[in-house]
Amino acid sequence: MATSMQPARADDAAAKALATPSDLGEDATAAIAAELNKLAADAFALYVKTKNFHWHMSGPHFRDYHLLLDEQATQIFAMIDPLAERARKLGQTTLRSIGHIARLSRIADDDSEFVPPAAMLSELVNDNKAFTSNLRVAHEIAEEREDVATTSILEVYIDESERRTWFLFEASRGADRSGH
Ligand SMILES: [Fe+2]
Repeated sequence: MATSMQPARADDAAAKALATPSDLGEDATAAIAAELNKLAADAFALYVKTKNFHWHMSGPHFRDYHLLLDEQATQIFAMIDPLAERARKLGQTTLRSIGHIARLSRIADDDSEFVPPAAMLSELVNDNKAFTSNLRVAHEIAEEREDVATTSILEVYIDESERRTWFLFEASRGADRSGH
């Protein structure tokens, strides 16, 4: 996504003003925080998409799907603050705006006026699966730098993401193409 870059000097000044001491070293904290910030942006986008489908659900399974997506949205939203604050604890900066989220997120928007229920579920299966893969990448980067606090947070989120994928997959299995 196109973006205007801040001047390097402003970035340096911000980094200095917001620095938090960490024994992990600048290279490690920068690499880990870059992953954490992408994940926090993904979580924002996945939260909005899950709520979008919660709000625009239709069909005979409305109640089940509507409630499932609400439960999942709550779980996704709860990840954002710990991910962002983990970056700050490492002495790095985190998300600042909707524009920043859009630049970092790897979750595709779905602006469609109408999405059939079965398509909603399969889209979310794929998004949650991709999110899990990105959690694993971040986990590997944190593990290489011996950041056990980050790895332990991410381990819980990997489990939760796999649970969301499981529920979405099972809920979508019996549905015909329209889900009606
Ligand atoms: Fe709701």
